[in-house]
Amino acid sequence: MRVTVPGDKSLTQRALILSALASGESRLRGLLHGGDAASTRDALARLGAAVPAIPGNGGEVVVRGVGLGGLRDPGGELDLGNSGTGTRLLLGVLAGTELHVHLTGDTSLRTRPMRRVTEPLHAMGATFTFHEIDGKLPLTIRGRHPLAPIDWESPVASAQVKSAILLAGLTGGAFALVTEPRKSRDHTERLFSEVGVGVISHAVEGGWRVELRDPPERIRPLDFEVPGDFSSAAFLLAFAVLGGGAPDGLTVERVGLNPTRTAFLDVLDRMGARLTVEADRHDPGAEPRGSVTASGSALRATTVDGEEVPRLIDELPLVAALGARAAGTTRIRGAAELRAKESDRIVTMVENLRAVGARAEELEDGLEVEGADGPLRGKVRTAGDHRIAMAFGVLGALPGNEIEIDDPGAADVSFPGFWAALARLGEGAAGPRAAGSRDRPNTTVGEANDPGGPRADGGPREGPIVTLDGPAGSGKSSTARAVAEALGFRHLDSGALYRALTYALLRSEIPTEQWHTLSESDLDALDVRAIPTEEGFDVRVMGRSVVEELRTPEVTEHVAMLAGLPAARASLIELQRMAGRRGRLVADGRDLGTVVFPDAEVKVFLVADLEERARRRLAETGTRDPDERTLQLQMEQIAERDRHDSERRHAPLRESEDAHRIDTTGLPFDRQVKSVVELVRRLTAQ
Ligand code: S3P
Repeated sequence: MRVTVPGDKSLTQRALILSALASGESRLRGLLHGGDAASTRDALARLGAAVPAIPGNGGEVVVRGVGLGGLRDPGGELDLGNSGTGTRLLLGVLAGTELHVHLTGDTSLRTRPMRRVTEPLHAMGATFTFHEIDGKLPLTIRGRHPLAPIDWESPVASAQVKSAILLAGLTGGAFALVTEPRKSRDHTERLFSEVGVGVISHAVEGGWRVELRDPPERIRPLDFEVPGDFSSAAFLLAFAVLGGGAPDGLTVERVGLNPTRTAFLDVLDRMGARLTVEADRHDPGAEPRGSVTASGSALRATTVDGEEVPRLIDELPLVAALGARAAGTTRIRGAAELRAKESDRIVTMVENLRAVGARAEELEDGLEVEGADGPLRGKVRTAGDHRIAMAFGVLGALPGNEIEIDDPGAADVSFPGFWAALARLGEGAAGPRAAGSRDRPNTTVGEANDPGGPRADGGPREGPIVTLDGPAGSGKSSTARAVAEALGFRHLDSGALYRALTYALLRSEIPTEQWHTLSESDLDALDVRAIPTEEGFDVRVMGRSVVEELRTPEVTEHVAMLAGLPAARASLIELQRMAGRRGRLVADGRDLGTVVFPDAEVKVFLVADLEERARRRLAETGTRDPDERTLQLQMEQIAERDRHDSERRHAPLRESEDAHRIDTTGLPFDRQVKSVVELVRRLTAQ
């Protein structure tokens, strides 16, 4: 079986940053379409660079750079989401400008150490204010131009630290020399040389040194294809090695093979895995790439020590997971850096390994895990960390194991499509199986929204789908929510998805008059997700939950227009189907029974007369006893929306032939809910 994986996260962010700073137009292909890349792209756009949204298909993106001194005030805080790389690299860039910028991030990012970059950048002349916790986001950076030269000895081998200093040297026009205890990934150095910036690197006693001697005043644009992310490929390769899929071997093609990133292959080799690596010979460009093939092998334990750590830092959670399935005790030492990642990965790995029944011990600078063959079963707490989610995803997808992952959507920051890719591999392993047979891969990712993979309604449904359609103000949303609660199903408010896409578009600064020119993949790139929760779905835009944002007058004003665009409907249809993959869903909207779920078990069409609907709408916004004029105005608005909904060319509002019509005029709310619940029970014998 041959697969590819999404673009490299480290390279995507560096390519975007250097393109934004270049003089001229850069052409980038294969960029990661994931949360971290989107956070960095958004930040650069806010800083004034013309960086389009990243498409989901790896297609070419043209970035118009602003030049080294051309970034402008973003006019508000920059939110880097979950991206540590984006934050630290941008701090380097901003240090050499005269901008004052406020940066923040999600809960995980706000716990991560920033001093490792702010200290050297301060030594060069930038100043920092930490607003909540010393050394952590949120912070304000005040850059300076030119910056002072620096000769910095970093106590940690960190490409982020090294890159931040080099980028500061570049924008700040300053000599920069960094020594690190071991060589960390060298993507920045390689891309620097692509844009015409010379750096000299060499081994020195006790480490590795990189020198930026003569920072230029301009840099050339890039023409670059980002290879697949080796760190993402590692999860699929590990699954194949563990015998989880692809009996004839799994080949990951066009994946980055930069030697500063691939020590995981050495580790797999020591553990006894059968591997073949083939470098692409034709024009590797700045970064080597090729294909790696792995197949099922019995594994033995190994030890990873400090020497190797920087070259597989991101694969260590996976090494620990493999350790749980390798004969003997696998040890990871010299890896205290794991504590500074998206979670404290020493703690999260040990806790979760134990939670699924493996024996694991925490060490100050690493961990130990004992291999065994018994089934691994239990619940995993990802702490919002993508690599924890994926490492346990691999274990959980192995026959016999049953692992529930609290936040499968965490994978999206680096590997959108991970769950679908894993499921496809798992299917390849044992050929066709009866639904529900005991040895199905058992990772509970359920309805995880997984836009990178096939989005059909695959897999067995665990219960029915109930659709509630109806015109504006028919009460479908509140009814659907209450019906879902009564039945113990999830509620999908499709209106919230349309609002989220509207919000994402408004935020993208694409002028409204251009919205109709956008393609489905342009809209997919805006990264609207629906992550399953107990009762419903957490709607996220670029990885961040949105609730209040969806109710603003600006979103309300534009949502109907957006909902009339075929590309928008197409983009959201897949998302909605994915949410309904397993059934046990009550979904409300305007075309759920006709277009989205034509095979839903129960379809309801709610109606109510115009005045009643107008009164309900007003009540929702706090106006209980409207005067005649207000009521009239609201009725006109609703009538207008009805016209728009039924006349639009694409998916007009209509009642499905097999829908059950319920007229709710004059019906108290609880009766409405009861009548739908009874209908569902009657039709599905629930
Ligand atoms: C990265 C460097 C590593 C790595 C991270 C990406 C980069 O972090 O863990 O996922 O792109 O520079 P450190 O440099 O902090 O080790």
